[in-house]
Amino acid sequence: MNPLQFSFIFLHLTLLLHFSSAAPALTISVTPKTLSKSGDPVHIQWSGVESPSRLDWLGIYSPSTSPNDHFIGYIFLSSLAGWESGSGTVSIPLVNLRSDYQFRIFRWTESEMMNATSFDQDHNPLPGTEHMLVASEEIGFQPGMGPEHVHLALTGRLHEMRVMFVTPDGKNNTVRYGLTEQNLDQVVGTEVSRYEREDMCHPPANDFVGWRDPGYIHDGVMTNLINGKKYYYQVGSDSGGWSDIFSFVTPKTHSKKTVVFLFGDMGTAAPYITFDRTQEESSSTVKWLLRDIEALGDKPTFISHIGDISYARGYSWLWDQFFHQIQPIASRVPYHVCIGNHEYDWPSQPWKPDWASKLYGSDGGGECGVPYSHRFKMPGNSSQVTGTSAPATRNLFYSLDFGVVHFVYMSTETNFLPGSDQYEFLKNDLESVDRQKTPFVVVQGHRPMYSTCNRPKEIPLRKKMIEHIEPLLVKNKVSLVLWGHVHRYERFCPLNNYTCGSLEKNGEDNWEAYPVHIVIGMGGQDWQGQWLQREDHPSDPVFPQPEQSLFRAGEYGYTKLVATKKKLKLFYIGNHDGKLHDMVEIMAPGVAPSAFMEMEAMDCWYYVKNLSLMVLVGFVAYFLGFTSHCRRNVTENSGWTRLKAEDV
Ligand SMILES: *[C@@H]1O[C@H](CO)[C@@H](O)[C@H](O)[C@H]1NC(C)=O
Ligand SMILES: *[C@@H]1O[C@H](CO)[C@@H](O)[C@H](O)[C@H]1NC(C)=O
Ligand SMILES: *[C@@H]1O[C@H](CO)[C@@H](O)[C@H](O)[C@H]1NC(C)=O
Ligand SMILES: *[C@@H]1O[C@H](CO)[C@@H](O)[C@H](O)[C@H]1NC(C)=O
Repeated sequence: MNPLQFSFIFLHLTLLLHFSSAAPALTISVTPKTLSKSGDPVHIQWSGVESPSRLDWLGIYSPSTSPNDHFIGYIFLSSLAGWESGSGTVSIPLVNLRSDYQFRIFRWTESEMMNATSFDQDHNPLPGTEHMLVASEEIGFQPGMGPEHVHLALTGRLHEMRVMFVTPDGKNNTVRYGLTEQNLDQVVGTEVSRYEREDMCHPPANDFVGWRDPGYIHDGVMTNLINGKKYYYQVGSDSGGWSDIFSFVTPKTHSKKTVVFLFGDMGTAAPYITFDRTQEESSSTVKWLLRDIEALGDKPTFISHIGDISYARGYSWLWDQFFHQIQPIASRVPYHVCIGNHEYDWPSQPWKPDWASKLYGSDGGGECGVPYSHRFKMPGNSSQVTGTSAPATRNLFYSLDFGVVHFVYMSTETNFLPGSDQYEFLKNDLESVDRQKTPFVVVQGHRPMYSTCNRPKEIPLRKKMIEHIEPLLVKNKVSLVLWGHVHRYERFCPLNNYTCGSLEKNGEDNWEAYPVHIVIGMGGQDWQGQWLQREDHPSDPVFPQPEQSLFRAGEYGYTKLVATKKKLKLFYIGNHDGKLHDMVEIMAPGVAPSAFMEMEAMDCWYYVKNLSLMVLVGFVAYFLGFTSHCRRNVTENSGWTRLKAEDV
């Protein structure tokens, strides 16, 4: 060996040594390699990131063959403890997307960030993928572990319960059910459907960033059920595996009490950042709902989610995240929905009158109602052609009786004007309610007829609804009208064309009782508009509350309706404290005023009456002093009493 060769090798060795001491191998490991069910966490461990930067990020990919810029989500390493050392760990609960997952670490530079050309919904630049540092092995879900996304719905017929779920292959799956866990002796098959990328109307839903395999959607109807019983059930197949055994309670035939949970605009919470912001608040809404459903024990109930359901908006995996999140509640009580702008609206939607041209935009992210129409099956057969190759939109309007309440659902995204199918349905349905059987009628839809949180583009729609729909509600003595869309809670006086049903108006014996309107879009979406500002101070944060708005709040949560044949109460429950924030009581038609005297000690109330319909609007205060104050008001003043009107 000549000196030259020697020094060359020496140089080589020192370079190697130098390299390995300054830059230990960059590694990423993932355990376990196989997960069993949605929600199981994967543990990711990495080390050897040189000169860690606060812009280093971990990309989450599914399937593992996705190109670098088609991540489903990401986490900045600098959001994790100890990141400055260049190593760390994170656990992420994953949902089963019927494909494998991979994790990749990237270095994103300041100048790439400054020059970014793609942005998320909040206008944050999406992290750059030019410099990949390391990629993990693939991990997957164990096959044969049974269906997911299990959710129930009423069919509108007695003795039945629908169950829907998703499998990776659409093979023959069945529902087995019975009165005990050990004896699931009744069996029904399922109908299977799915939708394709070509069914979607525009990006992101139909491009490769947003589209993922949605799986096969199964729909089975359990029949011959006995009313008022607890049933156990399981879905699946021997080859694909079986779900856990769940249970539900069937409605009673002559129920004296109705309990229902209602809210709009909930969304889902993903454990990573993605293209659209997800709804952190939804986790605690579901948590408290589960508490209240468990507390009901063996009493029947259902959930009503009035539009803006998953907020997937074309990012397919967010539907999986949503159904995983609601499964603990939706597998045990029917989960009812109506359509919102974020399930539907797209630029060429078939009904788009001139006055709605600014209103109906691209809020559906290109889904144009397709996932909504496949993943739920509500009673009735309402449908609207899309005008594209996409399948028709379903679940637009329907009604169902549940105990002492007749529930009606409408679509504010499709034609509701006189002459439309929907208008005819609403008119006929409201006119033919048997008020002996269901003294209360509750109408629900997504975009509100009334709200003091206004965006100018919503005004024309409200006008049309007040012109055409409200007369049906007033004439048919609808008890309560619930709306979503505005991510706040707001309770109005009983209303007709902005006029409160008034004690003074027509004298003692002819008080007017109109439907009470309440906005309940506070399910979880954390974007909140402002209350209407003072017209003469448009830039000052002064939000006078019009007299029609009796109580309004920004706390997220849900409402709980409890009705007997005499009295309907709606409670507003906050999801930060699980406590009551507002309450309204509405009396059934013809119930004598003496019924008011049964009020609980904490109630503070006032009422409007009509010869045939009594309406009582109440508020439960937190403090006894406050309660006695308003009680005194009631005895002193028989007119409207303004109580605490805002939750601050
Ligand atoms: C970012 O843009 C600036 C100005 O156009 C350019 O000078 C710079 O090279 C770009 N940086 C990268 C990383 O592309
Ligand atoms: C599906 O499964 C059910 C119950 O096991 C069985 O009765 C039915 O024949 C099967 N159908 C097909 C098409 O395999
Ligand atoms: C929907 O159901 C109603 C009532 O059962 C029926 O009259 C109507 O023909 C049905 N429409 C379609 C399109 O099936
Ligand atoms: C509502 O009131 C306004 C103003 O008073 C009136 O112009 C309009 O015709 C009313 N609408 C209905 C449906 O009665």
